[in-house]
Formats: sequence, C-alpha cells, structure tokens
Amino acid sequence: MCGIIGIITSEKRNLIPEIISSLKNLEYRGYDSTGIAIIDNGNIKRVRRIGAPSDVFHNQEITEAFEVPSDGFSIGIGHNRWATHGKPSEENAHPHFDCGGNLAIVHNGTILNYESLRKELISLGHTFLSTTDTEVIPHLIEQSRKEGASLKDAFLNTASLLHGSFGIALISTDDPNRLLLAKHGSPLLFGILDNTLIAASSSNAILSYTNTFIALADGEYADLSIKEGSVTYIIGTILDPEKLLTKEVMTITDKSLGDMTKGEYESFMKKEIHEQPSVFRTTILGRYDEETGDAVLGGLIDYEEILRNAKQVLTVACGTAHNASLVGGVLIETLAGIPVRSEIASEFRYKKVPMIPTETVLFAVSQSGETADTLESVKEARRKGYKTFGIINVVGSAIAETVDAGVYARAGFEIGVASTKAFTAQLAVFYLLAIKLARERGMTPQKGKGLLTELEEIPNLMTKTLVDTESIVRELAEHYANKNICTINFLGRGIHVPLSTEAALKFKELTYLEAGSYPLGELKHGPIAVIDNDALSVIIMPYDELFELNKNSLEQILSKSGNVILITDEIGAKKLGAQSVDIVVIPTLKNTLLYPTLEILPLQLFAYYYALALGNNVDKPRNLAKSVTVE
Ligand code: M6R
Repeated sequence: MCGIIGIITSEKRNLIPEIISSLKNLEYRGYDSTGIAIIDNGNIKRVRRIGAPSDVFHNQEITEAFEVPSDGFSIGIGHNRWATHGKPSEENAHPHFDCGGNLAIVHNGTILNYESLRKELISLGHTFLSTTDTEVIPHLIEQSRKEGASLKDAFLNTASLLHGSFGIALISTDDPNRLLLAKHGSPLLFGILDNTLIAASSSNAILSYTNTFIALADGEYADLSIKEGSVTYIIGTILDPEKLLTKEVMTITDKSLGDMTKGEYESFMKKEIHEQPSVFRTTILGRYDEETGDAVLGGLIDYEEILRNAKQVLTVACGTAHNASLVGGVLIETLAGIPVRSEIASEFRYKKVPMIPTETVLFAVSQSGETADTLESVKEARRKGYKTFGIINVVGSAIAETVDAGVYARAGFEIGVASTKAFTAQLAVFYLLAIKLARERGMTPQKGKGLLTELEEIPNLMTKTLVDTESIVRELAEHYANKNICTINFLGRGIHVPLSTEAALKFKELTYLEAGSYPLGELKHGPIAVIDNDALSVIIMPYDELFELNKNSLEQILSKSGNVILITDEIGAKKLGAQSVDIVVIPTLKNTLLYPTLEILPLQLFAYYYALALGNNVDKPRNLAKSVTVE
C-alpha cells in the first residue's frame, strides 16, 4: 500500500524519467494518486496528480512541469498513493510539504496518533492543506527545526513520535545533498549503484537499475548523502541515532524475478495466469526425492522434529492466500491425518484460539510477505510460543523475516492486483508439505512416489487446460456479462469448496459484482432461494466419489430454471452426456486431490474475461492495493 521512491546521485542528470519508471514499477502498491518532488536550484518543485503514474505522467506534460536545468538534478522523491486517510485528490497526494515549503516527504503506512499531533501543531501555528495522516510529518520536522534541531535530529525526533507504521523519505532545501529514510512497519530499502543510491518500498521498483540493496529493519533510519563528489550512506536506529549499524548488502540473482514487463500479453493478469504452469514447475523443482517418495523442503530442515511431532497445523492468511491455505488444510488432513485449522489473519489476531502452541505448527501464507494482519498474527503467535513457518513469495519480506523458518513460493513478481500465480505456487508448496507430513506419519514410499509423479505432470496438464478452456471460458464470460446476470454463485464439495471461494473472490475483485460461494450441499439450506432465470451457478465437479451427489444438486438448480456452467473433467463430461448446461472440460486426473491446480485456471479466466467485457481494469481493479499493509 503506497509506493515510495527516492534518488540521490553525485552525477547530476534528469532524474524525472527514472523516478517515473520506478513509480510505474510500484503501481501495484497503490494507484489512486501520485506525485514527484525534486530540488531544483535550491527550491523544491512538485507535481501531484490523481491516478496512476502510467496514466497521468505523460512525457510532454512532465517535461513542461519540471524544466530540467542544464546541469540536471541530484535528488528527488516520488510516491504512489492508496488512500487510507483522506480521499484521492491532488491535495492529499504525496509529497507533502511543511509550511515553509522547505522540505518534502513521502510516506507509506498509517500514523495512528496523527489527530492529536495535528491538533498540537495547529495550536503552534502550522497550517494543514490536506486531510491525510501523513501531513503531520513535515510539520513535526519543521517544528523541531524551529526549536533548534538539525535536519537529521528533527527527522529522527519526529519518527520517534509517530505511532503506527511508516516508511518515510525526506528531502529538504536546507541540505539538498541529503536523502533521509526511516522505517517502522512498512518496507523500505535502498539500492546501491556507483554514483547513485535509490530508495524504494520494494526491490521490484529498482531492479532495472541495480540488484544490490540494503533493506532497513523496523526502527532503523538511513542517511544517504553526497559527500566530496560521491554518494555515501550511514544506517542507525531511530531511538539511538549515534549507534551506527553495519547491514548486509543483499543481491537478487534470480533473473526470472526481474521480469516486470507484460511481454506479449495485454495485461499483467493474463500473463500471470499463463505463467502458472512454469510457476508450479519452478516451485516444486528440487524439492522432492523420487527415490524416497518424500518432499525435501530445505527451509524447514532444522525443524524436522517439530514437524514430526506436531499434533495439529494452524494456518493464518488473508484473501487468496487464505483460500490456498484452505486447500492446503484438506490436503494435510487427508494425506497426513493431522487436524488443520485455517484462520483468517484479521480474525486470528483478536480471538481466542484454543490450540496448544507446543503441539501446533503455524504456517503463515502470504504473497507479499507484508500483509499487516498476517504479520501481526505471526508476531502474536510467536509471543504465545507457537513455532511459526512461512509460505511466502517475496524473498526477504517482513513476514519472511519474522517467522522461524519457511518455504518460498517462487511465483516471481506478481504485478496484477488480483492474485493468480501466487495462489498456484502456494498450492504447490502445500502439496509438498502435505506429502512431507504424511510420509512422517505412515504414508508409504510407494504412495509418496505415486503422488510426486502425478505432481510432476501437473505443469503440462495446466498448459493443456489453458489451451483447451480459454476460448470457451471467454465466450461464456462475455455471454453472461452481456446478459446482466443478477446473482452468481460458485459451488463445489470437499476440496473444491475453497476453489469456489477463490473463484468468487476473483470474480468480485475484477467485476465489482457480488458473488457467493457455497459447499454444494448447502444450496438446499437457503441459497437455492436465489436461483431463477437470472441467476448463474458455476459448479466445480470433476468426476470423483461425490459426482452422483453433485448431479442431484445440479438437477435442483436446473429445476428452478437456473443458468449453470460446469467445470468438470473428461470422464465427468462423458458421464453427463447431453445436458442443457455449458461444460468446461479439464483433463482427468488419477488423484482427485490434485484437481485444484487445474480447476483454478478456467475460474480465473472467467473472472478476467467477464471483467474485460464490463470494461474494467483487470490489472488494477478499483479500491484495491496489492499489499495490504494497514489493518
Ligand atoms: O500478499 P498476501 O498474500 O498476504 O495478500 C493477501 C490478500 O490481501 C490478497 O490475497 C488479496 O485477497 C488479493 N487481492 C486477492 O486477489
């Protein structure tokens, strides 16, 4: 939520294109408004706009707004906003100024005590021009400066007064050769080049410039400056600024992580849907042993005994990651026979969960590794004595750094706000985890080998599913989008229930239409009341032991004149014969537990094409942000 950029360089040049291109790479974090500030000849120049950088920062206009001096710029900051306090508007967009316009800051996070700080600052004569929580920051720094503090001390004093979460970057005309950063609860790092340092909320934003960076931890600040013709930095703690820290310089080497373009696709979401076969392959690669029929999860190697002795599993996650955990729960319960409780992180944090921490292993699942509710759940669980593990996609993210250990999901950058390939990667990890837990609890090597052989086949079958289903799903989505359906429900039984939940979530996010998801057997206990000629039911029912039961429910819907789309497999399609319903056929699998890996594909495509038919932005659906770093 919100993306920050800051550049400082000893090689003066036109920094605006670099700031804009980095902001574009951070658009997934927030896209309701955006802004840039640079120091030009001792003054701060600022441009702010409503909308995403790629929509509002057009070359011509920006060149006019920032007339580049012949010797260029050496420092600038930029921001993409996802509004939490104050609606999207130019006044509320960052960067924010102090009263004197001598300093500009960009902020990611939420300041919980901003109301009292604002009141106090107003009583001291400060004038506020926005309705954001952020604007207290430049005024607090200005106030501290008035009281005699140096720029750095004023910045750190201010940071120490803030409750809540922040990643902040500051520039000031008082010291135009300095970029100050502070972090607590919101991600912030800076990339290192020969004559330039680039701060960002995520390495994604700056990988085209450098793959070497330092990530700040909570409570840390960085002082980046130009000294004697080159750039330099120091890092310390906000509460004890004199104590300097030596931090590890990280290098991202995985090239696939750096692919942030749409390539041949018209949207990131479409690209990411189509990347799923290779993501699944990459996620399981090298993580199993065909000889022993067991999964080999290097990240959990030091916790083998704890995993072996665990009596139950607890998962915490939000949104799509929670839906993947629900599938994971069925896998673990079915294969390993251990009870699994899957909690939505925002609930888990505040409720009493009567599980015994020493007997339970907790898995936090998150694409971004930044989701505030999941992160806080992990912290709370650790306080209670749980061993915590992560299934996280973003390497080095806050949750990945907080858990005891974990398994990375290896989906690569997911830019589309609606999560697709991260879900598949999370499923891949859960299959391996379930096999591992099962092998420790009596699953024979033979059975393990069989499952792994089938798992290896999944990427090819995913490709086949995409090829076979995309055009029919597109036709169906366009048909129903034009039909103005009033009600849509996604239904299934057993392991397909979480798939129906994920399908409904995807559909809501992209189409802005309400969609329900139910276990099919629940239909008759209430939801069937909504079925009529204007209702659509999407039923996930490949041929399995519950197929005949599912057929009953199908008949019930048809008898009420409901519209139906069935997702079934080749055998299921044959058994159904000529039906007055539309059927989307996926390949038949020997092990029915593996169906989620294929079913999800037409369900994602359905939401995607339905949304396109409605004219919606599929990469940046309204009101959403990719990383939800606020409560
Ligand atoms: O980054 P996380 O996986 O922790 O995010 C959790 C949810 O916010 C996320 O899955 C959200 O529901 C997506 N927009 C779903 O498409």
